[in-house]
Amino acid sequence: NNEVPQDKSLDNSLSLYQEGYHFIQNRVEKYQSDLFEARLLGKHTVCMRGEEAAKLFYNTELFQREGAIPKRIQKSLFGVGGVQALDGKEHDHRKSLFLSMMTPLEEKKLGELVLAKWEDCIEQWEQAEHIVLFEEARKVLCRTACEWAGVPLEEAIVAERADEFTSLVDAFGAIGPRHWKGRRARTKLDEWAGSLIEDVRNGNLDAKEGTPLHTIAFHKDLKGELLDTHTAAVELNNVLRPIVAIAVFITFEALALHEHLQSRTRLTTDQEREAFVQEVRRYYPFGPFLGAKVRKDFTWRECDFKKGQLVILDLYGTNHDEKQWGEADQFKPDRFLKEEPSLYNFIPQGGGDPMTGHRCPGEGITVEILKATLDFLVNKIEYDVPKQDVSFSLVKMPTLPASGFIMSHIRRKKSTL
Ligand code: HEM
Repeated sequence: NNEVPQDKSLDNSLSLYQEGYHFIQNRVEKYQSDLFEARLLGKHTVCMRGEEAAKLFYNTELFQREGAIPKRIQKSLFGVGGVQALDGKEHDHRKSLFLSMMTPLEEKKLGELVLAKWEDCIEQWEQAEHIVLFEEARKVLCRTACEWAGVPLEEAIVAERADEFTSLVDAFGAIGPRHWKGRRARTKLDEWAGSLIEDVRNGNLDAKEGTPLHTIAFHKDLKGELLDTHTAAVELNNVLRPIVAIAVFITFEALALHEHLQSRTRLTTDQEREAFVQEVRRYYPFGPFLGAKVRKDFTWRECDFKKGQLVILDLYGTNHDEKQWGEADQFKPDRFLKEEPSLYNFIPQGGGDPMTGHRCPGEGITVEILKATLDFLVNKIEYDVPKQDVSFSLVKMPTLPASGFIMSHIRRKKSTL
């Protein structure tokens, strides 16, 4: 269609890796359109961003996920056979498994658990010259995730497991060694989780009822059958891996505290802490885009969407859309005190309704863990932030402050009670 801007490059896959989080935004600005067509991964693709585009993207009559996720991402980040690539009734049924594990009570429990794990670190940190927060966070989260999920984890292998979970996430935006490290970690972690599932089913490992390990091991599909071992393993890792990944947001959270000192003084109420955490999730880059496949031909905003075509939604760009967010490129937690975001304009973890669509079921967990960590950083310890490189690339996906956020001279804060 003539009205829709066409990016003429032969193939944009390389540009995607060279421009990272700004790939879609750069073209949206160039063409002055929230929608454009481009060739990506050898395929004719529609790229879009913004609240209205997100609404369209989550219409399950028009889009499906099966066949939309590249094999390289399934074989690293997501795992093969997981909820991410299901559609329709099968998706909704599998999704209810996740949502049943993530009740407000369990979310609160995770917040309390992570705070206790952080406090366990203080004594050791007081002896250390400095610590790298990202490194500490992924270990703390690995311990937290496994304990909550009912998964046994020896202290001696915590660092190794945490590294493996991180490399699954690190693999999605990488080509070469970083990608292959993630693929090897995927094989290993699925085997490990698979043996836990079998042990629980055989009675060789005691899993408490109500823990994710138990719930996933005995979940039945629509035909009333247990998931095959591999699929159950993938879903168990779909709970553990993203909890460890919250380390990325925690590192950005500490950076925000450091760079926006004025916000620090306004963190006394629960609403203020929540607003701060929401702004961390909006402002800093993590999940860049999502892909879906057109289910049937239709036209939207003069663009002809063709059955089978790939469509990419810009998560980062939607969270930074000036039309929705005044001064989008400034860190301003108070915006969340003034206005509730919609299901489609604030989409760091996907948009729409998590019950019927693919929106992340772990947003409550993420917010509780970030709030508990904020409480820890502000009220439980004092620390210095030595000179370091905290800049982060918007090309590398996923990204992180270069230093991982170094803290020194850490001491337990004297209780003010
Ligand atoms: C889906 C981001 C934390 C479990 C997603 C999606 C995104 C996302 C972008 C895709 C939404 C879509 O396809 O429409 C994040 C980020 C997190 C996070 C940035 C913070 C680190 C979590 C947590 C859990 C979790 C803590 C569980 C413990 C899942 C699952 C899906 C998902 C199972 C697939 C849902 C489906 O396909 O229906 N997440 N997530 N995530 N997330 Fe998260």
